Amino acid sequence: MIDHLVVFMPSGRRGRFARGTALLDAARSLGVYVESVCGGRGLCGRCQVEVAAGVFDKHGIVSADDHLSAPGATEASWRPRGLAPNRRLSCAAKITGDLVIDVPSEFATNRQIVRKRAEIRQIEIDSAISLRTVTVAEPDMHAPLGDADRLLEALDLPGVAIDPPLLGDIQRILRAGNWQVTAALHQDCDRPLLVALWPGVHTRAFGLAFDIGSTTIAGHLVDLLSGRIIASAGTSNPQIRFGEDLMSRISWLMMNPGDRGALTAAVRGALATLVTRLAGQAGISPEDILDVAIVGNPVMHHLYLGIDPSELGQAPFALAVSGALRLAARDVGLAIHPGGRVYMLPCIAGHVGADAAGVALAEGPQHHDETTLVIDVGTNAEILLGNRHRVLAASSPTGPAFEGAQISSGQRAAPGAIERVRIDRESWAIRVKVLGVDPWSDEPGFADDTVATGVTGICGSGIIEAVAEMFLAGIIAADGRMTDHVHPRLRANGRSQDFLLWDGLVPLSVTQTDIRAIQLAKGALYAGARLLMDELGVETVDRIKLAGAFGSYIDPKYAMILGLIPDCRLDRVAAIGNAAGTGARMALLNRGHRAEVEALVRRIEKIETALEPRFQAHFVDAMAFPHATARYPNLSAVVDLPVAVPPRKGRRVRRD
Ligand code: FES
Repeated sequence: MIDHLVVFMPSGRRGRFARGTALLDAARSLGVYVESVCGGRGLCGRCQVEVAAGVFDKHGIVSADDHLSAPGATEASWRPRGLAPNRRLSCAAKITGDLVIDVPSEFATNRQIVRKRAEIRQIEIDSAISLRTVTVAEPDMHAPLGDADRLLEALDLPGVAIDPPLLGDIQRILRAGNWQVTAALHQDCDRPLLVALWPGVHTRAFGLAFDIGSTTIAGHLVDLLSGRIIASAGTSNPQIRFGEDLMSRISWLMMNPGDRGALTAAVRGALATLVTRLAGQAGISPEDILDVAIVGNPVMHHLYLGIDPSELGQAPFALAVSGALRLAARDVGLAIHPGGRVYMLPCIAGHVGADAAGVALAEGPQHHDETTLVIDVGTNAEILLGNRHRVLAASSPTGPAFEGAQISSGQRAAPGAIERVRIDRESWAIRVKVLGVDPWSDEPGFADDTVATGVTGICGSGIIEAVAEMFLAGIIAADGRMTDHVHPRLRANGRSQDFLLWDGLVPLSVTQTDIRAIQLAKGALYAGARLLMDELGVETVDRIKLAGAFGSYIDPKYAMILGLIPDCRLDRVAAIGNAAGTGARMALLNRGHRAEVEALVRRIEKIETALEPRFQAHFVDAMAFPHATARYPNLSAVVDLPVAVPPRKGRRVRRD
């Protein structure tokens, strides 16, 4: 029998196939994912491909349109319904010659491009939800098998069960579809479950990935068939009214033991708002959403599930449940399709939650020889350190200072907030950059552009740069104390003093107490990282990744000048964006990633900072800028760090 060489792009997978083989079968035999809802019956129109015509020396192939069978009636019927002239249905087109086939990204890649600063990552899609169009035998008085049973026969999937709420709708849907229906099957560990059914051909299936943070909740709506992100939205966590940080929410619960439901209702309400908003943005119905993956810190994880997190407020910080959870969306108040499912990533331990598991999945330190430090900074910093041999995790109580809270002129990152600061080393002249305004404060247009926003406060990245620049300019010493030089910007404040950063309509100062708050936060962060380095037996790390919104805005150089992070080559310190959310999307789109994160979490070694005696010593040393004892050779090579000098005599703070 004559066979032909077929190469599928962009994967480059190739094989020889007998003349007359359907392209869809060829793709499947090579493991090339080409979407197919109807199982190759020409009903769904999803299996589209293109012939790349030409001479391909690299592959030793001459590929041409007529190396496929001529389009027949099935493909003709799809031309007016979205099959472009240069496209073929791979289930209908038969191989008649050598071919190079392009699998168009919107149909068959079944992968999602995840934007990373340094790399583009492809997530292969193997989602827990699959659609299948089948024709069910009509009822027969002489073979009295129920409609649902004949549907299961048509699905021909061993062990498949029906989600009970669907049972009451099956007869109506079968008849509405004239015995042709599309089933949504959920296949994830347990036996396959039929979760949704539509009359006729149905080719829409969407999923949601949520990252529930203490301050904000982010959601992405994803097309489960193509892998594309259709819409993204975020909202602030309404639990903030019960307390800014996790511990204060736990305290509120302890004071109001009967009101746990209020915190659960608040977070579920926020997710419901996001579902409505995301579906509205995409122009779909919430009922088109069939699967959801969720990450969150342990307290958010528990509160979302309706579990009392009080045990997390004290040693031994026991989680009520740590493993991955597979739930019905209706059981956790998510108004998506009535048969929709929820996957919650596992928590690592104590205060290292499913969000850190998502970061570990997305960043994969366990895949590399080099030692990577991953820091997700929020009100709690979650820290991962590892390489191919071991991965360690810890959480450190940094508090909300890095988010601009507990800072006298602090505010959240919003238009009007100072986000960048430069201080002249000699004159202490100051330039700032304000969020929402393009020019720096000494550039033309700044005054006009700030009319709308004002200069209202200092956000997290702004306070870090302000303190770091104050250190570089000699305004504060390595121990954090302000100098006693006389200068108009230094103002007495009781027994302490303030540094005037912005002399505008609303004067903004950095106080000695602010500097203390930054020292405490950065000391806790560094000490957590250092503890993991001790445990791993390393003095330096090869790479540092800063996750989360904060990590995206902070300048790595300033993070190092302050000593938030250990010394490292600056070109190896990178912001990685919302890695926890990326992990949630990976788990949403690929069942293999669910298995991977579950196995990974079991091997991650958790170090409990609160119980570790060395933490306190590391913390004290880490209070200095950048550090009392640790060396910063990589940083010193690019930044002139001040040399510690004793305070000069005879210079006093002007008290006017
Ligand atoms: Fe459905 Fe080809 S697989 S039309």
